[in-house]
Amino acid sequence: MTARPGLVVSLSGRSECERLGSDVSPHVSSSRIAADAGKASRLLSSDAGSAVPAANLQDMSYPDRRTSLLIHAALTRSGCDAATIGRVHQYLADAGAVPMLTRLRRHCGYIFAHSLKTTKLVVHVARDMSVDGSEHAVLFVGALLHDIGKLAVPTSLLNATRRLRKTEIDAIRSHSEIGYDSLSDTRIIGWNAVLDVIRHHHERLDGSGYPFGLTAPDISWRTRCVTVCDVFSALIESRPYRPAMNRDEASAMLSQMVAAGKIDGDIVNALRRWRPE
Ligand SMILES: [Fe+2]
Ligand SMILES: [Fe+2]
Repeated sequence: MTARPGLVVSLSGRSECERLGSDVSPHVSSSRIAADAGKASRLLSSDAGSAVPAANLQDMSYPDRRTSLLIHAALTRSGCDAATIGRVHQYLADAGAVPMLTRLRRHCGYIFAHSLKTTKLVVHVARDMSVDGSEHAVLFVGALLHDIGKLAVPTSLLNATRRLRKTEIDAIRSHSEIGYDSLSDTRIIGWNAVLDVIRHHHERLDGSGYPFGLTAPDISWRTRCVTVCDVFSALIESRPYRPAMNRDEASAMLSQMVAAGKIDGDIVNALRRWRPE
Protein backbone atom coordinates (compact mmCIF):
# COMPACT_ATOMS: atom_id res chain seq x y z
CA MET A 1 0.00 0.00 0.00
CA THR A 2 1.38 3.36 -1.01
CA ALA A 3 1.75 5.95 1.74
CA ARG A 4 0.65 9.47 0.92
CA PRO A 5 2.00 12.51 2.70
CA GLY A 6 -0.13 13.78 5.49
CA LEU A 7 -2.53 10.88 5.58
CA VAL A 8 -2.95 8.00 7.96
CA VAL A 9 -3.18 5.00 5.68
CA SER A 10 -3.43 2.17 8.18
CA LEU A 11 -7.04 1.32 7.55
CA SER A 12 -6.75 -1.92 9.48
CA GLY A 13 -5.28 -0.19 12.53
CA ARG A 14 -6.35 2.88 14.48
CA SER A 15 -8.44 5.28 12.47
CA GLU A 16 -7.53 8.88 11.84
CA CYS A 17 -10.40 9.80 14.10
CA GLU A 18 -8.89 7.79 16.94
CA ARG A 19 -5.54 9.46 16.29
CA LEU A 20 -7.27 12.80 16.61
CA GLY A 21 -8.81 11.69 19.88
CA SER A 22 -12.46 11.67 18.88
CA ASP A 23 -14.85 8.74 19.17
CA VAL A 24 -12.12 6.59 20.73
CA SER A 25 -14.40 4.61 22.98
CA PRO A 26 -18.02 5.52 22.42
CA HIS A 27 -20.18 4.68 25.40
CA VAL A 28 -22.47 1.78 24.64
CA SER A 29 -25.28 1.29 27.08
CA SER A 30 -26.33 -2.17 28.23
CA SER A 31 -29.88 -1.44 27.06
CA ARG A 32 -28.60 -0.63 23.57
CA ILE A 33 -26.63 -3.88 23.49
CA ALA A 34 -29.70 -5.79 24.66
CA ALA A 35 -31.83 -4.10 21.99
CA ASP A 36 -29.36 -5.05 19.29
CA ALA A 37 -29.10 -8.59 20.60
CA GLY A 38 -32.88 -8.84 20.39
CA LYS A 39 -32.84 -7.40 16.88
CA ALA A 40 -30.11 -9.88 15.92
CA SER A 41 -32.07 -12.87 17.15
CA ARG A 42 -35.20 -11.64 15.31
CA LEU A 43 -33.21 -11.22 12.12
CA LEU A 44 -31.69 -14.64 12.49
CA SER A 45 -35.07 -16.25 12.95
CA SER A 46 -36.87 -14.39 10.15
CA ASP A 47 -36.87 -15.46 6.53
CA ALA A 48 -34.74 -12.54 5.38
CA GLY A 49 -32.60 -12.75 8.48
CA SER A 50 -31.73 -16.35 7.85
CA ALA A 51 -29.39 -14.97 5.18
CA VAL A 52 -27.09 -13.58 7.88
CA PRO A 53 -24.34 -16.11 8.54
CA ALA A 54 -25.28 -16.86 12.14
CA ALA A 55 -21.79 -17.87 13.20
CA ASN A 56 -20.34 -14.64 11.80
CA LEU A 57 -22.83 -12.48 13.64
CA GLN A 58 -22.48 -14.26 16.98
CA ASP A 59 -18.69 -14.14 16.83
CA MET A 60 -18.60 -10.42 16.18
CA SER A 61 -17.82 -7.73 18.69
CA TYR A 62 -20.70 -5.40 19.55
CA PRO A 63 -19.64 -2.58 17.17
CA ASP A 64 -19.18 -4.95 14.22
CA ARG A 65 -22.47 -6.71 14.93
CA ARG A 66 -24.20 -3.35 14.89
CA THR A 67 -22.52 -2.48 11.58
CA SER A 68 -23.68 -5.79 10.09
CA LEU A 69 -27.22 -5.22 11.30
CA LEU A 70 -27.31 -1.75 9.76
CA ILE A 71 -26.11 -3.19 6.45
CA HIS A 72 -28.63 -6.00 6.76
CA ALA A 73 -31.48 -3.58 7.42
CA ALA A 74 -30.51 -1.40 4.45
CA LEU A 75 -30.43 -4.36 2.08
CA THR A 76 -33.65 -5.86 3.42
CA ARG A 77 -35.52 -2.54 3.13
CA SER A 78 -34.28 -2.20 -0.44
CA GLY A 79 -36.01 -5.46 -1.30
CA CYS A 80 -32.76 -7.36 -1.76
CA ASP A 81 -33.36 -11.13 -1.74
CA ALA A 82 -32.15 -13.26 1.17
CA ALA A 83 -29.62 -15.28 -0.84
CA THR A 84 -27.90 -12.13 -2.09
CA ILE A 85 -27.88 -10.61 1.38
CA GLY A 86 -26.20 -13.76 2.64
CA ARG A 87 -23.55 -13.52 -0.09
CA VAL A 88 -22.90 -9.86 0.75
CA HIS A 89 -22.37 -10.70 4.42
CA GLN A 90 -20.07 -13.57 3.45
CA TYR A 91 -18.00 -11.36 1.12
CA LEU A 92 -17.59 -8.74 3.84
CA ALA A 93 -16.64 -11.37 6.41
CA ASP A 94 -14.17 -13.14 4.11
CA ALA A 95 -12.50 -9.84 3.21
CA GLY A 96 -12.32 -8.72 6.83
CA ALA A 97 -14.23 -5.62 5.76
CA VAL A 98 -16.80 -5.38 8.57
CA PRO A 99 -14.32 -3.91 11.11
CA MET A 100 -13.26 -1.40 8.45
CA LEU A 101 -16.86 -0.33 7.94
CA THR A 102 -17.26 -0.07 11.71
CA ARG A 103 -14.28 2.27 11.82
CA LEU A 104 -15.74 4.26 8.94
CA ARG A 105 -19.05 4.51 10.87
CA ARG A 106 -17.18 5.94 13.84
CA HIS A 107 -14.76 8.01 11.80
CA CYS A 108 -17.40 9.84 9.80
CA GLY A 109 -21.02 8.92 10.33
CA TYR A 110 -22.34 10.69 7.25
CA ILE A 111 -19.95 8.81 4.95
CA PHE A 112 -21.11 5.48 6.38
CA ALA A 113 -24.77 6.53 6.00
CA HIS A 114 -23.99 7.69 2.45
CA SER A 115 -22.49 4.27 1.67
CA LEU A 116 -25.72 2.59 2.81
CA LYS A 117 -27.84 5.06 0.81
CA THR A 118 -25.70 4.54 -2.31
CA THR A 119 -26.08 0.78 -1.91
CA LYS A 120 -29.87 1.06 -1.61
CA LEU A 121 -29.97 3.04 -4.86
CA VAL A 122 -27.72 0.49 -6.56
CA VAL A 123 -30.07 -2.32 -5.45
CA HIS A 124 -32.95 -0.40 -7.07
CA VAL A 125 -31.07 0.17 -10.35
CA ALA A 126 -29.93 -3.47 -10.53
CA ARG A 127 -33.53 -4.62 -10.15
CA ASP A 128 -34.92 -1.96 -12.50
CA MET A 129 -32.42 -2.85 -15.23
CA SER A 130 -32.84 -6.61 -14.69
CA VAL A 131 -29.17 -7.13 -13.93
CA ASP A 132 -28.33 -10.84 -13.66
CA GLY A 133 -28.66 -11.97 -10.05
CA SER A 134 -25.19 -13.52 -10.08
CA GLU A 135 -23.80 -9.97 -10.40
CA HIS A 136 -25.69 -8.52 -7.46
CA ALA A 137 -23.51 -9.43 -4.47
CA VAL A 138 -20.24 -8.01 -5.82
CA LEU A 139 -22.06 -4.92 -7.06
CA PHE A 140 -23.62 -4.26 -3.66
CA VAL A 141 -20.35 -4.96 -1.80
CA GLY A 142 -18.60 -2.51 -4.14
CA ALA A 143 -21.23 0.11 -3.30
CA LEU A 144 -20.89 -0.51 0.45
CA LEU A 145 -17.10 -0.17 0.29
CA HIS A 146 -16.73 2.48 -2.43
CA ASP A 147 -15.67 5.22 0.02
CA ILE A 148 -13.79 3.00 2.50
CA GLY A 149 -10.59 4.93 1.69
CA LYS A 150 -12.07 7.97 3.44
CA LEU A 151 -11.01 6.26 6.67
CA ALA A 152 -7.60 7.66 5.83
CA VAL A 153 -8.83 11.21 5.28
CA PRO A 154 -8.78 13.35 8.42
CA THR A 155 -12.21 14.36 9.69
CA SER A 156 -10.91 17.91 9.78
CA LEU A 157 -10.97 17.76 5.97
CA LEU A 158 -14.16 15.72 5.58
CA ASN A 159 -16.06 18.15 7.80
CA ALA A 160 -14.34 21.37 6.73
CA THR A 161 -16.70 24.21 5.88
CA ARG A 162 -13.97 26.51 4.57
CA ARG A 163 -12.51 26.60 1.06
CA LEU A 164 -9.97 23.77 0.74
CA ARG A 165 -6.45 24.13 -0.59
CA LYS A 166 -5.40 22.05 -3.60
CA THR A 167 -3.30 19.71 -1.45
CA GLU A 168 -6.34 19.11 0.76
CA ILE A 169 -8.56 18.39 -2.22
CA ASP A 170 -5.91 15.98 -3.49
CA ALA A 171 -5.87 14.30 -0.07
CA ILE A 172 -9.63 13.76 -0.20
CA ARG A 173 -9.45 12.56 -3.78
CA SER A 174 -6.82 9.98 -2.83
CA HIS A 175 -9.52 7.94 -1.05
CA SER A 176 -10.33 5.85 -4.11
CA GLU A 177 -6.73 4.69 -4.48
CA ILE A 178 -6.26 4.22 -0.74
CA GLY A 179 -9.45 2.18 -0.53
CA TYR A 180 -8.25 0.03 -3.42
CA ASP A 181 -4.82 -0.44 -1.83
CA SER A 182 -6.31 -1.38 1.53
CA LEU A 183 -8.29 -4.28 0.09
CA SER A 184 -6.17 -5.33 -2.88
CA ASP A 185 -4.53 -8.25 -1.04
CA THR A 186 -7.91 -9.94 -0.59
CA ARG A 187 -8.15 -13.21 -2.50
CA ILE A 188 -11.81 -14.02 -3.08
CA ILE A 189 -13.51 -15.02 -6.32
CA GLY A 190 -15.14 -11.92 -7.78
CA TRP A 191 -13.19 -9.51 -5.60
CA ASN A 192 -11.55 -7.76 -8.58
CA ALA A 193 -15.01 -6.45 -9.47
CA VAL A 194 -15.30 -4.91 -6.00
CA LEU A 195 -11.85 -3.35 -6.30
CA ASP A 196 -12.76 -1.95 -9.72
CA VAL A 197 -15.69 -0.08 -8.19
CA ILE A 198 -13.65 1.23 -5.24
CA ARG A 199 -10.81 2.46 -7.44
CA HIS A 200 -12.79 3.93 -10.33
CA HIS A 201 -16.04 5.31 -8.89
CA HIS A 202 -14.85 8.90 -9.48
CA GLU A 203 -13.91 8.32 -13.11
CA ARG A 204 -16.14 10.01 -15.70
CA LEU A 205 -17.05 8.68 -19.16
CA ASP A 206 -15.53 11.75 -20.86
CA GLY A 207 -12.16 11.29 -19.15
CA SER A 208 -12.60 14.18 -16.71
CA GLY A 209 -12.62 12.03 -13.57
CA TYR A 210 -9.91 10.73 -11.27
CA PRO A 211 -7.55 9.11 -10.41
CA PHE A 212 -6.69 8.00 -13.97
CA GLY A 213 -8.92 9.98 -16.30
CA LEU A 214 -10.32 6.75 -17.77
CA THR A 215 -12.83 7.06 -20.61
CA ALA A 216 -16.04 5.14 -21.34
CA PRO A 217 -14.54 1.98 -22.86
CA ASP A 218 -12.47 1.39 -19.72
CA ILE A 219 -15.23 1.98 -17.17
CA SER A 220 -17.31 -1.08 -16.31
CA TRP A 221 -21.10 -1.05 -16.08
CA ARG A 222 -21.00 -1.84 -12.37
CA THR A 223 -18.68 1.09 -11.72
CA ARG A 224 -20.90 3.40 -13.81
CA CYS A 225 -23.86 2.23 -11.75
CA VAL A 226 -22.17 2.96 -8.41
CA THR A 227 -20.93 6.31 -9.78
CA VAL A 228 -24.43 7.49 -10.71
CA CYS A 229 -25.91 6.35 -7.39
CA ASP A 230 -22.95 7.82 -5.50
CA VAL A 231 -23.43 11.25 -7.11
CA PHE A 232 -27.18 11.25 -6.58
CA SER A 233 -27.07 10.09 -2.97
CA ALA A 234 -24.39 12.67 -2.15
CA LEU A 235 -26.50 15.47 -3.68
CA ILE A 236 -29.64 14.61 -1.69
CA GLU A 237 -27.70 14.32 1.58
CA SER A 238 -26.65 17.33 3.62
CA ARG A 239 -22.99 17.91 4.36
CA PRO A 240 -21.29 20.10 6.95
CA TYR A 241 -20.31 22.42 4.09
CA ARG A 242 -23.61 22.54 2.14
CA PRO A 243 -27.32 21.75 2.46
CA ALA A 244 -29.01 18.83 0.74
CA MET A 245 -30.63 19.30 -2.67
CA ASN A 246 -34.18 18.12 -3.20
CA ARG A 247 -34.72 15.25 -5.62
CA ASP A 248 -35.70 17.49 -8.54
CA GLU A 249 -32.58 19.63 -8.15
CA ALA A 250 -30.39 16.54 -7.90
CA SER A 251 -32.08 14.99 -10.91
CA ALA A 252 -31.45 18.15 -12.92
CA MET A 253 -27.79 17.99 -11.93
CA LEU A 254 -27.60 14.39 -13.20
CA SER A 255 -29.18 15.50 -16.48
CA GLN A 256 -26.46 18.09 -16.91
CA MET A 257 -23.81 15.45 -16.29
CA VAL A 258 -25.41 13.09 -18.83
CA ALA A 259 -25.60 15.92 -21.40
CA ALA A 260 -21.91 16.64 -20.80
CA GLY A 261 -21.10 12.97 -21.44
CA LYS A 262 -19.87 12.32 -17.91
CA ILE A 263 -22.22 9.63 -16.60
CA ASP A 264 -24.43 6.89 -18.03
CA GLY A 265 -27.87 8.12 -19.14
CA ASP A 266 -29.55 4.69 -19.04
CA ILE A 267 -28.55 4.25 -15.40
CA VAL A 268 -29.76 7.77 -14.60
CA ASN A 269 -33.14 6.94 -16.18
CA ALA A 270 -33.37 3.78 -14.05
CA LEU A 271 -32.47 5.74 -10.94
CA ARG A 272 -35.21 8.29 -11.66
CA ARG A 273 -37.75 5.49 -11.22
CA TRP A 274 -36.59 5.02 -7.60
CA ARG A 275 -39.08 5.97 -4.91
CA PRO A 276 -37.97 6.16 -1.27
CA GLU A 277 -39.40 3.38 0.90
FE1 LIG B 1 -15.82 8.51 -3.30
FE1 LIG C 1 -19.37 8.25 -2.21
